[in-house]
Amino acid sequence: MKVLVVGSGGREHALAWKIAQSPLVDKLFCAPGNAGMAELGTCVGIKAEDIESLAAFAERERIDLTVVGPEAPLVAGIADAFEERGLSVFGPTREAALMEGSKHFAKQVMLEAGVPTGSAEVFTDYDAAAECVRRGSPPYVVKADGLAAGKGVVVAQDDRAAYEALKACFLDKRFGEAGNKVLIEEFLEGQEVSVLTLVDGEHILPLAPAQDYKRVGDDDTGPNTGGMGSYSPVPVMSAEDYRRVVEEILRPTAKALAGRGIHYRGILYAGLILTQEGPKVLEFNVRFGDPETQAVLPRLESDLVPAMLAVLEGRLPEVELRWRDEACVTVVVASGGYPGDYKTGYPITGLGEASSLEGVVVFHAGTRRGEGGEVLTAGGRVLNVSALGRDFQEARERAYRAVERINFTDMYYRKDIAMRAVRGA
Ligand code: GLY
Repeated sequence: MKVLVVGSGGREHALAWKIAQSPLVDKLFCAPGNAGMAELGTCVGIKAEDIESLAAFAERERIDLTVVGPEAPLVAGIADAFEERGLSVFGPTREAALMEGSKHFAKQVMLEAGVPTGSAEVFTDYDAAAECVRRGSPPYVVKADGLAAGKGVVVAQDDRAAYEALKACFLDKRFGEAGNKVLIEEFLEGQEVSVLTLVDGEHILPLAPAQDYKRVGDDDTGPNTGGMGSYSPVPVMSAEDYRRVVEEILRPTAKALAGRGIHYRGILYAGLILTQEGPKVLEFNVRFGDPETQAVLPRLESDLVPAMLAVLEGRLPEVELRWRDEACVTVVVASGGYPGDYKTGYPITGLGEASSLEGVVVFHAGTRRGEGGEVLTAGGRVLNVSALGRDFQEARERAYRAVERINFTDMYYRKDIAMRAVRGA
């Protein structure tokens, strides 16, 4: 079969890498892809947001399965556009993608499903929201309702920061329409864990849990990023916590969506916090996590493609996923300056050597080929170096050994990825 992977980051490279291993797949296309994905399939120069061109391409090439990586095209209705043309697409429709596209919608579904989550109030104007801050006490979590490229959530430690976050949404319109509605949410304390599940409209099939690192600096310092590393499984999450996530969060959420007549097909990502009272939902996303996917998929022994087809055909109960016992650690290698200003176009060396190390796979996140065929940096997050090991210690050592083989100007990475997993904390 012919498969098209939409997107160009480390998550999409990991998906393409896993999909390309399937004996069911004869031809792989990536749109637009990156230098790493170009080694697995044919990259086509269509952007992930260009839904019409992607659908026309899939129709022309008779693509059997399209897998959508990022949230923006899902929220914009790529699945609907493909389905209208009779094309198979792995990812929820525009209505179902509101689970990520509207924090208010997701909260309503959670309340309906009785899913544990922080309490929240919803506002559509600055004055009413500011009044909520005046009568409350910090910390507050201020969330823009719509998609804001990962920048729409502020944990405000004092009233002033909360007013600033509200001003950014309502008065400065920093997130456009996405900030016309704002949630002020209860602050929850605990470790964050991501549990993703396949959903076929009715049934779920959860994946192995993962934890990611959002801050740019060691010991969780500095500004938030798109993710600086990840690991799987998650030692701090007990088997009982995992069971509760599946039975008290994922299953009731899928059922509540089905009860609303929403046929959710694809991945549903629960961003969780392990509180004293048990796991609670911070947010839902409607796609694979980045960089969690880069640590989860190397541990998946089973073929992912039959599971994706089962999602589309409502056959998930027929699928069983086998997982490797090994741990996986992913270190994100970034351009110096990220998430602020950074330069691109620097040649990257050592990729072949790093990839040849035992247990290691190097996923590209922001790379492109130069005119001489060399691999160049092309984004803030450049590479995701994943390594499997018998335990976290070994996986970590392998990942960092590989990172040390790689070099480019201004290269930056965190040195403490998975340290807490090594400590079992
Ligand atoms: N790792 C966070 C996300 O994918 O949204």
